[in-house]
Amino acid sequence: MLSAETEPRIAEAFSKHGQSQVLRHIDALPSRGRAEFLAQLAEVDLALIARLVAAGGEAKMDYSRIAPAPYVALGASNADARAHGESLLRAGKVAAFTVAGGQGTRLGWRGPKGTYPATVVTGKPLFRVFAEQIAAAEKRYGCAIPWYIMTSPLNDADTRAFFKDNNWFGRNPADTFLFPQGTMPSITFDGKLMLETPGSLAVNPDGHGGAIRALHHSGALEDMQARGIAHMSYFQVDNPLVKIVDPVFLGLHAQSAHSSGEMSSKMVAKRDAAEKVGVFCDVGGGKTGVVEYSDMPAELTGSVDAKGALRFNAGSIAIHAIALAFMERLTAGGEGTGFALPFHRAKKKVPYWCDAQMKTVEPAEPNAIKFEAFVFDALALTAKSLVMETARVEEFAPIKNASGDDSPASSHQIQSNRNGAWLEKFGVRVPRRANGDVDARIEILAETALEAEDLAEAELPKQIAAGAEVVI
Ligand code: UTP
Repeated sequence: MLSAETEPRIAEAFSKHGQSQVLRHIDALPSRGRAEFLAQLAEVDLALIARLVAAGGEAKMDYSRIAPAPYVALGASNADARAHGESLLRAGKVAAFTVAGGQGTRLGWRGPKGTYPATVVTGKPLFRVFAEQIAAAEKRYGCAIPWYIMTSPLNDADTRAFFKDNNWFGRNPADTFLFPQGTMPSITFDGKLMLETPGSLAVNPDGHGGAIRALHHSGALEDMQARGIAHMSYFQVDNPLVKIVDPVFLGLHAQSAHSSGEMSSKMVAKRDAAEKVGVFCDVGGGKTGVVEYSDMPAELTGSVDAKGALRFNAGSIAIHAIALAFMERLTAGGEGTGFALPFHRAKKKVPYWCDAQMKTVEPAEPNAIKFEAFVFDALALTAKSLVMETARVEEFAPIKNASGDDSPASSHQIQSNRNGAWLEKFGVRVPRRANGDVDARIEILAETALEAEDLAEAELPKQIAAGAEVVI
């Protein structure tokens, strides 16, 4: 709790930065609410906000310097990499790391996104999907895979309650480490901090790039160090098809001549020029970066090579392998040093306290700027970063929107398509529609197969009927 003397200091700092409007209701707050509000205000980095407001926008990239990023293409021979990745796993050097601090506003689900029922037949929630995959990998490699999950102050309690209610999905709670990321205050278009209620600022989680700071602050890095972890497998909470433990990717990341072993990424070939995904680029001087689809000039997005193929086709699917040593290097200098990734700004609808109506109002149009850091900005801080291609149907079925692209419906179709293709490899006749989509709902459990080849051991049907629901 803050001491009584700190209140005038906080008031003075906010006044000096032209932000005293947020204190306009403080005298009407009950003592506990007042203390909590002051604690929130004390955390605000006013100098940082002032810098971001003064900057007015993001530094523009020099697009004349960017080129497509090189990548390890699909089908490359990777036997050595696989062997190396497997040895890392067997030695217990790999952790799983899920970023689950987002607000999931587009999906509109009432709880944390990881609690969303995601699988195509049994409707398993995303967190259970990941837990079962990790358990199957632990069994296969005879190792423990500690699981780190970044929440936010807005969903941490609900996420913890979900794990507890589900008996930690059979995991040892000591091997599952939940920690909240930081937040950033939203600002109005004229640079003013906003109230959400009379006694709280309007804030948002500080982006998946907040992971670096949060890993450090929460003690997660220290915990990994104590357990002998060398690399973490980073993935988003919204992708039920992610291959959490991929020995080939881990091996390439850790030992390839094209990688410093600090931070590597997976990509899929873009569907077409218009697909809204970030693209891996060489952003100059051999440094890898992700350029957002909205930032890339149209002439680059659509540019093709001599064979007519998209030049900038390396779509990011937000899967990375990250070395503990890299995170430790970035955070070694403490606050305000290496882990201050740049903040990106987005115009959003942010609920705010309206004095005239005496309530929190949900605006119909964007009314504020949110600041978020992006984890892929850390790629430029590596010495050499590797990008590996993977097949879209194998690993990318995100659930972001309530309907249309990247929705539960599209994710279900991709899950069935992947599982159907795995079964076809073993001679199972799988019904397909004219457009190639599998015409059945097929779920394959992690304990049955972590990759297609594992089905060689499984008991499989000879064929699947059109429209059937099958769990294998
Ligand atoms: P998205 O960019 O899809 O954002 O996050 P979101 O907040 O989940 O969803 P919308 O935009 O409000 O609909 C991609 C991944 O990054 C995590 C999310 O939980 C998701 O796994 N994330 C995002 C964080 O962990 N923290 C953040 O501050 C933002």
